[in-house]
Amino acid sequence: PSSVMPIHRLVFISFLPTKHSLSLSPSQNSKNTQGLVGLRNLGNTCFMNSILQCLSNTHDLRDYCLRNTHRIDLNNNCRAKAALMEEFAKLTQTLWTTASNEAVSPSDFKTQVQKYAPRFMGYNQQDAQEFLRFLLDGLHNEVNRGSLRARTPVEDFDHLSDDEKAKRMWNKYLEREDSKVVDLFVGQLKSSLTCSECGFCSTVFDPFWDLSLPIAKSSGEVTLNDCLRLFTKEDVLDGNEKPTCQRCKAKRKCTKKFTIQKFPKVLVLHLKRFSEARVKTAKLSTFVNFPIKELDLRQFASDNMNAIYNLYAVSNHTGTTLGGHYTAYCRNPSSGEWYTYNDSRVSPMSSSQVRSSDAYVLFYELTNCSRM
Ligand SMILES: *[C@@H]1O[C@H](CO)[C@@H](O)[C@H](O)[C@H]1NC(C)=O
Ligand SMILES: *[C@@H]1O[C@H](CO)[C@@H](O)[C@H](O)[C@H]1NC(C)=O
Ligand SMILES: *[C@@H]1O[C@H](CO)[C@@H](O)[C@H](O)[C@H]1NC(C)=O
Repeated sequence: PSSVMPIHRLVFISFLPTKHSLSLSPSQNSKNTQGLVGLRNLGNTCFMNSILQCLSNTHDLRDYCLRNTHRIDLNNNCRAKAALMEEFAKLTQTLWTTASNEAVSPSDFKTQVQKYAPRFMGYNQQDAQEFLRFLLDGLHNEVNRGSLRARTPVEDFDHLSDDEKAKRMWNKYLEREDSKVVDLFVGQLKSSLTCSECGFCSTVFDPFWDLSLPIAKSSGEVTLNDCLRLFTKEDVLDGNEKPTCQRCKAKRKCTKKFTIQKFPKVLVLHLKRFSEARVKTAKLSTFVNFPIKELDLRQFASDNMNAIYNLYAVSNHTGTTLGGHYTAYCRNPSSGEWYTYNDSRVSPMSSSQVRSSDAYVLFYELTNCSRM
């Protein structure tokens, strides 16, 4: 496969905006910046368009498609049909290479989506975050480099240090689930269970593809940190929920707490604006104040780790559970300027408008991660 790479790279170079375009004034800039192409609404498909634009502005995923690297992964994977990834890559390529800024139709892509998930069939309004999960999972399956046969027996890692255990669990996960999508989006969460009787602490490490954050209750505005604190706050498991303590060998009242063990390159934060049951009308329109630059997550890390993220895309939901409209705000990876994607319309916006009480799914990219 490596022998074909230079050709792909060469093709890619012509897609890249010239350095020159970066120094143009904003109005000229929007004429020359690529990726400012809208997606036609095929009838209530704004949820899909919003997510597609957020993914299209995910620098590394975009380049994976533009360089046709996905083909190499597809060729090495015989387990699945390749149609979803292929259509996704085609659409991404179209968004970044069309000469005109005229909106394109995502209908071929939608046809593939429906083959995989009939529930996205038809033209009903859907939840953008559920669609994102489904899409990333579908793309991952087609370009998965992991082995189908890697079903190593359950090993006991309990005698190891937490760090070592986390690493082994992660490597075990990669044996089966390993793709560009995992490289970018998947992190690892540590859950610690502490027995209230004997103080024994057991740990479990699980991969996560995004974090669904509860919205802190408040009459006014809350911060993203408030939501993260709520997500990671110590929970008491008592009554029917009592887990079995491994040391006491009996059901005990325990406390449970999440911390982030491994920070993903792309952190997707889903603000739980809709109630669990998604019963009608219940939508929280709390204003969640989130940083556009330098979201510092060190206080949520398992150990002394420094993790700083910058925001690059937001899926915005206006309206109620019954009916609403999705748009996307994305920071163009080449120009660094923000744009609003409202189906077929793309318009420049100021980064100061990015925060609103309708922000629903936030896309952050890791800028700095180091052990302290
Ligand atoms: C999106 O575009 C539609 C027209 O196609 C317009 O009615 C609507 O107000 C726009 N929404 C936003 C949030 O810009
Ligand atoms: C996002 O939501 C806000 C409402 O808080 C709305 O004013 C704005 O028009 C929406 N933006 C887009 C681009 O949809
Ligand atoms: C990134 O990490 C390095 C090393 O820890 C540090 O020197 C630098 O200031 C950090 N940058 C930011 C933006 O935090």
